[in-house]
Amino acid sequence: MISTGNDDHHNEMSNDPRSRRRLFGRVRVVLGFLIGVLLLTYCLVSLSDAAQAQRRTRRQRRAPARPAIDYSKFSHATNEHQETCNTCHKIPTENWQKLTNFPDIVDYPDHDACVSCHRRQFFRGARPVICTNCHVRVSPRDDERFAFRNPAAPRQFTIEFPHDKHQDVIARRRHPIDSEQRFVFVRASFRNTPSNDQSQPYNYCTICHESRTEAPQAPPSGWIDSFVPDAGTFKTIPTSHASCFNCHWKAQPPVSQDCAGCHKLSKPYAGVAQVSRLSMKFRHAREQHVLECTACHINITKPLSGRDLTPDVPITSCTECHNKVGLRSDLDAELVKLDKEKNFVCTYCHTSDKGKLDPPASHFLIAGRKPVKRADIR
Ligand code: HEC
Ligand code: HEC
Ligand code: HEC
Ligand code: HEC
Ligand code: HEC
Ligand code: HEC
Ligand code: HEC
Ligand code: HEC
Ligand code: HEC
Repeated sequence: MISTGNDDHHNEMSNDPRSRRRLFGRVRVVLGFLIGVLLLTYCLVSLSDAAQAQRRTRRQRRAPARPAIDYSKFSHATNEHQETCNTCHKIPTENWQKLTNFPDIVDYPDHDACVSCHRRQFFRGARPVICTNCHVRVSPRDDERFAFRNPAAPRQFTIEFPHDKHQDVIARRRHPIDSEQRFVFVRASFRNTPSNDQSQPYNYCTICHESRTEAPQAPPSGWIDSFVPDAGTFKTIPTSHASCFNCHWKAQPPVSQDCAGCHKLSKPYAGVAQVSRLSMKFRHAREQHVLECTACHINITKPLSGRDLTPDVPITSCTECHNKVGLRSDLDAELVKLDKEKNFVCTYCHTSDKGKLDPPASHFLIAGRKPVKRADIR
């Protein structure tokens, strides 16, 4: 009874046109769904195929155009290397006590700073060249590193030191070693003893710029005209943090962490060790030249806006002694020789790189003459 009833029911269903339509409807939905899935899969597969192909051709296209990357020369100018400085540089570095007497940056960034992006360069091959940015030898056991900064690597930064903002500050702080300081500098010129330079620290400039005691290295192409300047010709320029960090540590911006507050990215260059001068023959150490620094460096304490930090000494600071009637006439004498010989090279103040050029307008102004060009001299 029950089964008949069931059969009946079944027959009833299959024979009922309404339920048949319902069944077909369901089949159609399922089929449609299956086709949909198939189509979608097809699309996805062909899409990723296309992407792969595109990637392949892009790689092929890129390969010849891109020069091989030199992983032995770290550049701060590379986009991915332009994160804030302290993502790589830690201050102070762990080993500072061994190398210096104040908490300083005396070591390279750690492996952590690089491996997140350079796993391939670090772990591929027997002697990964990337190690040589910091290590003397490439070896899984040898941790010896170059000095930091590596003297052989070109400099990538110049220093921003706004002299105008420091004039009063430094004058006020004559004894930078105070009891609250966590560290004490032993830099001779920072002590309350007159530097051996002069009996008074002219405008406190001598805190940072002393007389050189060693002659600078000759430029790679040799001294111009074989003129070898003596050590006393030059003033030093700070080469470390000793003259900054006792003020710029944690409170006074730019703080020590903020490397970019003082170091400005530039084109790679040889560094301040390489002296470049307009008047190579001028010697700071000559007794008549030992004057208040700002007597000649009249622009140094003006705000740096748009101009480069250069010695920027106008010839007017020389002429009081070098071009005065009844005293000396070193400039006039050379201009007169130039009148007679258009290829005359001025060598009293200059080496020939400058002395063979046209004298600038400033020189004619001092001499009270009309400017002339060498080309116009008969
Ligand atoms: C991605 C990591 C990284 C970042 C970010 C980074 N540096 Fe460096 N820096 C290095 C490495 C590696 C060296 C050593 C290689 C060399 O001597 O050129 C170095 C060397 C230096 C040196 C010494 C060499 C020179 O050119 O004078 C200075 C100064 C320096 N960095 C300053 C900075 C400043 C300022 C910033 C932020 C604007 C900065 N760094 C950001 C990795 C980094
Ligand atoms: C945020 C990712 C990132 C970090 C962190 C990073 N690099 Fe790079 N570096 C790159 C990229 C991207 C390039 C460009 C070349 C390439 O695709 O490999 C590159 C290029 C280089 C080069 C080739 C020359 C150049 O500068 O363009 C050297 C060398 C290098 N890195 C060393 C290092 C060292 C050493 C560290 C750690 C102190 C470091 N990098 C940290 C991403 C990074
Ligand atoms: C950005 C600079 C830098 C690069 C590039 C670099 N190292 Fe180092 N390496 C360091 C510093 C810094 C330490 C010291 C870490 C410490 O003492 O915490 C160190 C430590 C080591 C040590 C001592 C053991 C250890 O892990 O502390 C070995 C070995 C070593 N490096 C090998 C290598 C090799 C091999 C490569 C290349 C695959 C390499 N390093 C790349 C800076 C670098
Ligand atoms: C706290 C240290 C400090 C004091 C004080 C200081 N300077 Fe400087 N001076 C610097 C630094 C740092 C530079 C930049 C060096 C560089 O460009 O890398 C510089 C650059 C110069 C230059 C330019 C050299 C060049 O690059 O051609 C002259 C000139 C100069 N200073 C003169 C003076 C005079 C004059 C005074 C006194 C009024 C003075 N400085 C006081 C730190 C100091
Ligand atoms: C009589 C003028 C005069 C006086 C005084 C003088 N300088 Fe100079 N200084 C110059 C000249 C000239 C240059 C070189 C400029 C050039 O040729 O480009 C120079 C260059 C410099 C430089 C760049 C490095 C070098 O030696 O070439 C520094 C730093 C400097 N002077 C600091 C000082 C300081 C500090 C004092 C005071 C103690 C001082 N100068 C006093 C004329 C003077
Ligand atoms: C005697 C303390 C003292 C010393 C040493 C000193 N500074 Fe400063 N520095 C200051 C003070 C204070 C200011 C703020 C001056 C102002 O804003 O008028 C300042 C300002 C600056 C600024 C400008 C910041 C800005 O926001 O414009 C720079 C860059 C700077 N110092 C770099 C240096 C460098 C580089 C050295 C080392 C060669 C150095 N300072 C040495 C006290 C010092
Ligand atoms: C308050 C200014 C200031 C700050 C902040 C600063 N520096 Fe310097 N740094 C200087 C001056 C000035 C010099 C000496 C001039 C030069 O040689 O370029 C110097 C020199 C260096 C040297 C060479 C030191 C040596 O003994 O050969 C390295 C490396 C260096 N800085 C890295 C850094 C790094 C990395 C940071 C950030 C963690 C930093 N500096 C922050 C001003 C600063
Ligand atoms: C008493 C020393 C002195 C004598 C003599 C002298 N100069 Fe100069 N010269 C300077 C000084 C200082 C400067 C930088 C300031 C200026 O331009 O006024 C300079 C700048 C120059 C410059 C500019 C370089 C530049 O790039 O800006 C040239 C070129 C030059 N002199 C050529 C000559 C010639 C040619 C003579 C001979 C007729 C001569 N000078 C004689 C001191 C002298
Ligand atoms: C206060 C006076 C005075 C000033 C200012 C002065 N000088 Fe002199 N300079 C002298 C005297 C004096 C001599 C020695 C002359 C002699 O006896 O031959 C001398 C010598 C020189 C010499 C020859 C080399 C040497 O040392 O014997 C040069 C070059 C020179 N000065 C360049 C300059 C320049 C450039 C300036 C300006 C930036 C300048 N001087 C400013 C007084 C001065």
